[in-house]
Amino acid sequence: MFFGQKIHPLNFDVPDTLIVESDKVELAGPGVRLGVRAADVFPGCLRLRFANAAVTDPRQHSDAVLPDWRAGRPVAPRLEAETAVFVAEAGRIELGAATLRLELAGFALTTVAAGVGACGEALLLDFAIAAVDGCYGFGERTKRLNKLGDSADCLTVDVVAVFRHTYARDDYDPTYVAIPFAILKNGERFLGLFFDNPGRAILDAGKFQPGEFGYQALGGNTDLYLLAGPSLPEVVRRYAALTGRAPLPPLWALGYHQCRWGYQYEAEFRELAAQFAAADIPVSALWYDIDYMDDNRLFTWDQVDFPDPAALNRDLKAVGIRAVTIVDPGVKREPGYAVYDSGRQQRVFCQTASGREYVGKVWPGDTVFPDFTLETTRAWWAGWLAGFLRASAVDGAWLDMNDPATGYSRTQEMRFQHGAIPHDRYHNQYAHYMAMASRQACDQLDPNGRPFLLTRSACAGTQRYSAVWTGDNASTWKHLRMALPCSLNLSLSGVAFNGPDAGGFMDDTNAELLTRWHQACGLFPFFRNHSAKHSRFQEPWQFGPGPLAAIRGAIRTRYRLLPYLYQCFFAHWREGDPIIRPLLYHYAGPEYVHLDDQYLVGDALLVAPILHGEGQGPEIVRNGVKMQERSVLLPPGWWFDLNRGEWVEGGRVIPYAAALDELPLFARDGAVLPYYAGPLRNSFMDLSAIELHLFCRERLAQFSYFLDDRETRRYATGAYGIARIAAEIQGERLRVVIAESGDYPTNTVSFTPVVYGCPEARELELTVNGRATIRPLHAEQREWLCRKWAVLA
Ligand code: GLC
Repeated sequence: MFFGQKIHPLNFDVPDTLIVESDKVELAGPGVRLGVRAADVFPGCLRLRFANAAVTDPRQHSDAVLPDWRAGRPVAPRLEAETAVFVAEAGRIELGAATLRLELAGFALTTVAAGVGACGEALLLDFAIAAVDGCYGFGERTKRLNKLGDSADCLTVDVVAVFRHTYARDDYDPTYVAIPFAILKNGERFLGLFFDNPGRAILDAGKFQPGEFGYQALGGNTDLYLLAGPSLPEVVRRYAALTGRAPLPPLWALGYHQCRWGYQYEAEFRELAAQFAAADIPVSALWYDIDYMDDNRLFTWDQVDFPDPAALNRDLKAVGIRAVTIVDPGVKREPGYAVYDSGRQQRVFCQTASGREYVGKVWPGDTVFPDFTLETTRAWWAGWLAGFLRASAVDGAWLDMNDPATGYSRTQEMRFQHGAIPHDRYHNQYAHYMAMASRQACDQLDPNGRPFLLTRSACAGTQRYSAVWTGDNASTWKHLRMALPCSLNLSLSGVAFNGPDAGGFMDDTNAELLTRWHQACGLFPFFRNHSAKHSRFQEPWQFGPGPLAAIRGAIRTRYRLLPYLYQCFFAHWREGDPIIRPLLYHYAGPEYVHLDDQYLVGDALLVAPILHGEGQGPEIVRNGVKMQERSVLLPPGWWFDLNRGEWVEGGRVIPYAAALDELPLFARDGAVLPYYAGPLRNSFMDLSAIELHLFCRERLAQFSYFLDDRETRRYATGAYGIARIAAEIQGERLRVVIAESGDYPTNTVSFTPVVYGCPEARELELTVNGRATIRPLHAEQREWLCRKWAVLA
């Protein structure tokens, strides 16, 4: 294992001859022969395929790109003054013997001299980035949002196993997820580079050599996909179109999840449900970590601790709490254990080069690993998993240890497809294929349902099958701060459905940290409280009434805004925009380039959480209440402070002090927030009545609200509607127009407008599908409703 080390560019052989053929360009020199082909993939996306003659297995083993885009329309090169030129719909590529120049949507990028080379199987592309002022994406990463000056080792690892003594640092690399995708920023133009090679690769945005962006694939061939901007949303959407978007999750998966390694008995789960009810906190799922299994045997329950898991899970479901179980890929190597025996018989396990079953050493001891790259294995797995989920009435699967974590045993001996394919071709894709197989299980259970899967490891494209959590973090402020840029970059890298272990997994949390974590990540796409065995318990009620009330507020606020979050998921599925976004997604200016301690949910809500504890940063005491202070950057325009109930003018940085139970949260002028005002009963939610919280000071408030059944996959074939909502204030009148269209019955949702910060509004003119009514606005429809947020939330 070597961490982040790359091959020195001077160790690469550089071509010195260029031969243009009818369909490709051949670059050659001492020790190097590279074939380069170009293809138009779709508007704004083109591909350069590098074929290195030294690569022993030239096949593309990556499953990142959607099948529709794998062929592409070949673009023929032509020779112009010693340079091969590809002119494609999306842009222009100029290839010299050892140089490459790209130009897409006004963004030009050129390699340094001798910037194209090979070192055996390794490929080098080295671009000059002196004019680049930001770099984003890189998948799941530690440290800051802007990756300029940083590097990324694209290799999936079990972080805590690798960084045994240093996991609590905030600069480890590699991580559980490998996505070789970089978004470069030059002024207000962006360009996406996706290096499709499933093997280990290094992305280096000027750490090794300032002013240069280096890509090194250590083996195999690379397809470089170029994704045009000019804007950041255009790049991100194109990447999402190329590698796939997350399907719509079931609504319950967007609620609050409670998990802990160490919940061990049926009684504990019943008690947890009762404690949530007593604490008046909704919870949508309880999670079973490895403790539920019989001696770590996959697809079993400990019969003593869980005599009737199906009855338990059905009882939980009756009160709106779903069950999710952990499912590790490792199968206990134990003749007589049915899962092992059937897998062995069907030859589904990974093998060594000589055809032995590859053996790791993980929780169950000696462990074998399904080779998910084989269709037969996926069918075998899907059968077992579906049977298990059905028999124990479990609603979702948590795919862990799939980096793959092989414990005390080296991974390199694990080969794929009956030993034929070396480890590195599928190492980074192990979790991806596991997620694909698990999705197949869900399809067997309910072909028209919406599965929920969560995976630790992932590669480009895994978002099509599963949500991702960011693995074993630590209960420290540093890791809380890191959670924002980490989830934001993961979101820009196509994995919209993600989140960290709230509260921190390793080590002991404390009252303040747990509270701030719930506020900071309470509006993240995935929101789960999870902690390690032997760490301090961290359920919301563990630290007394003050923190409990504050955490309750954060969780209930999420449930109130669940319709908005769901709409963000719908918009993601249609267009590819992430759920949570750095501010530079929507706002231009140098002040946003590094900004990663605040973020947007959709394009309308700005969250600026408190990320430091008492004694660690600015704080004040107001009316005897201790408050932590931070600065908040509000983009131009008006913002409604939902915490204090007042409009604040943006285009500046403001100081903000927040008591333990306060989260600085702002809605932009022109926002429409669909809000659930009904009773909070865990995952039960009747969304047939929605409040539309309207923020219209100077701007027209607009929103497209997607109408669908929220349960089936009918939306995927177009069976959904859109309610187009527009609201504005005209004198004393609030005019709201709602027009439904599309393939969904109209008038199934009743919308109640609620207007914020607009005391002059007295009258509501509401036009729904062409029918207008005029009536006085009720007091609660025109007061600023933060008090309501406080009461209901
Ligand atoms: C791994 C997982 C963690 C889980 C533990 C026990 O460390 O990342 O979430 O609790 O294994 O299963």
